[in-house]
Amino acid sequence: MTRILHIVCSPRANSQSRLVADALIEAYAGLHAGAKVDVLDLWDLQLPEMREDVLNAKYAVLAKREHTPAQAIAWETVQRETARLFEYDVFVISTPMWNWGLPYRLKHYIDVITQPGLTFKWTPERGYEGLVLGRRAVVAYASSFDYGDGSPLARFDHQKGYLEDWLRMIGIDDIRTIAFGPTHPDAPAMPAARAQAMKQAEALARTL
Ligand SMILES: Cc1cc2nc3c(=O)[nH]c(=O)nc-3n(C[C@H](O)[C@H](O)[C@H](O)COP(=O)(O)O)c2cc1C
Repeated sequence: MTRILHIVCSPRANSQSRLVADALIEAYAGLHAGAKVDVLDLWDLQLPEMREDVLNAKYAVLAKREHTPAQAIAWETVQRETARLFEYDVFVISTPMWNWGLPYRLKHYIDVITQPGLTFKWTPERGYEGLVLGRRAVVAYASSFDYGDGSPLARFDHQKGYLEDWLRMIGIDDIRTIAFGPTHPDAPAMPAARAQAMKQAEALARTL
C-alpha cells in the first residue's frame, strides 16, 4: 500500500495548485484501492518558531554537543515533524508562487524539518547526504503567469529550482512536476493551461 502525504501550501479555498494535486490524488486512488492519503495543511500546522532554542539545538547536533534542557525540548518539536515524513512513500506538494518564490509557510516548514541527523547529514568527505531515502515527490505549482521554459518570465521563477534542490538535499531524487500557469481567470491562456495541468495530473497518477 502506497502512503501519500499531500502537503498543502496555499491557504485559499479556491487554490489552483490544490485543485491539480487533488485531481492527481483522486486519479491515483481510483487506480489503487486502499491507497492511504493524508493531508498536511501547513496553514493549520503549529510550527515551532525558529528562535534561539531551536537554532542552538541544531548547532549542538552539528557540533556533537549535548542539548541543554531547553534545547532538548525544542529539538523534540523538530523531531516530531521530521518523524512524520518517514511514514509516507510519496509526497505531493501543492504550492502557489508568491513573489517569485515559495509561500513563507512552506519555507518555515522546510526550515523546521531540514535537520542534521534527522533528514540530512553532512561530512567533510561526502558533503550533504539526504536521509529521506526511497521516497518520491510530485510538486503542483500554480502562478498567475506562465513561468515555463521559453516564457520571458522563466528567469523570475525562484521556486522550482530551490524546492527541487531542497528535495534532493534531503534525499528525494524522484521528483515529478506539474506547473499550472497562468491561473489568472482573465488570462486568455488560462483554460488551456488548466486543461493541460489536469491532463498531466491524471497521466502522472498512472506512473506513480
Ligand atoms: C502574496 C502573493 C504573491 C503572488 N506572487 C505571484 C508572483 O510572483 N507571480 C505570479 O505569477 N503570481 C503570483 N501570485 C498569484 C498566485 O501565484 C496565483 O493566484 C496562484 O494561482 C496561487 O496558487 P493557489 O491558487 O494554489 O493559491 C501571488 C499571489 C499572492 C497572494
